[in-house]
Amino acid sequence: MEQPIKIDLKDRKLDHIKICNERNVEASATTLLENVMIEHMALPENDLDDIDTRVYFLNKKINAPLMIAAMTGGHPTAAKINEELAKIAEKYTIPIGVGSQRAAIEHPRLAWTFKVVRENAPSVPVIANLGAPQFSRGYSVKEAEEAVQMIEADALAVHLNPLQEAFQLEGDNWYKDVLVKIKELNDSLPVPVILKETGTGISYTVARTSYNLGIKYFDVSGLGGTNWGKVEAIRATLKGIKEAPMRINGFGDFWGIPTAFSILSTRIAAPDSTIIASGGIRNGLDIARSIALGADLAAMALPILRILLHRGRSGLESFLEQLFYQIKVAVYLSGSRNIDQLKCSPNILLSGELLGLLKQLLHQVKPDADIITSLTLIKCVNKLEVPNGWRL
Ligand SMILES: Cc1cc2nc3c(=O)[nH]c(=O)nc-3n(C[C@H](O)[C@H](O)[C@H](O)COP(=O)(O)O)c2cc1C
Repeated sequence: MEQPIKIDLKDRKLDHIKICNERNVEASATTLLENVMIEHMALPENDLDDIDTRVYFLNKKINAPLMIAAMTGGHPTAAKINEELAKIAEKYTIPIGVGSQRAAIEHPRLAWTFKVVRENAPSVPVIANLGAPQFSRGYSVKEAEEAVQMIEADALAVHLNPLQEAFQLEGDNWYKDVLVKIKELNDSLPVPVILKETGTGISYTVARTSYNLGIKYFDVSGLGGTNWGKVEAIRATLKGIKEAPMRINGFGDFWGIPTAFSILSTRIAAPDSTIIASGGIRNGLDIARSIALGADLAAMALPILRILLHRGRSGLESFLEQLFYQIKVAVYLSGSRNIDQLKCSPNILLSGELLGLLKQLLHQVKPDADIITSLTLIKCVNKLEVPNGWRL
């Protein structure tokens, strides 16, 4: 029987892992993916065995549209987690992100805690990670190149976490001039920049502004999953700051753009971009619904961390195998044969809050668009022929 990974709970540098593992850190608001119905096809006209869930991501073929989201590094225990996750990513041929590499940029002796990922996942897409505030103050292309080289990354995720920093005890509340820096990175690095949120979502405006500067990859990380305001409030409380829960009140549960709406907003703003759906993705149906909304793949953080820590590598492997099967079944039951067909399927119905939000957004950015036609075009704008004048 495989042993769960042991964590030294006393180590301050592991606060985030420990809190995410043990406490309720998820927003009460939902992703709104429950407002997406993929029409059930009682006559799928395919065999389940013929369903193909493979897709291309960053010029590499992966087995399923699922990525292990950025989480950790910078500490020996974090290195152990990274090593285990990387072995699994390689075994199943799925991409993996590392946590913020700031610690290793500032203390190169910690680089090995990130390098273990590439060492154990030599063939899959590996994503480097640095925070936007660091580029507002000090970091330039040089640090970004170091992060990419450190793990021979296929892309660099620049994470946006203004809510977390605002509620963090030692928060870096610096976002001045970040956009210009992100453009510079995207223009100069040998790999693409992924604009990545961390649980509060990417809006139409953020996606559109960045897209106009050349950004073609987005990880929406929307509302409905792990919330970093909550994590920081718990951390502050543990450090004796009694007012922390009162300070965060409301923001930890309800501030942000639900993942489903963030996917749609980003797809409308950045039609031919690659979109990673994340934030509250918890099962294969969430992944299928995200793709049906126009995402290219999905990423998951919290459940992967918890299952690895509690049930070890074999526990995580069986969880992932269930996810892969669920994705396959969803493609089959939708009457599609592969992920592209699911993404472009017109048989998607939206309801409730998500439909209301989409109507408002289209009214703002494309007042003459008819919602039903728009939805299919939004999702497949890079796959279908688009009528003249529709392109935003
Ligand atoms: C323990 C933990 C650490 C994280 N660290 C980072 C990080 O260093 N950089 C980053 O971009 N995102 C980080 N994230 C955010 C995730 O990549 C993801 O965007 C977010 O947790 C939403 O996904 P989830 O609801 O599946 O957890 C972290 C998440 C967790 C749970």
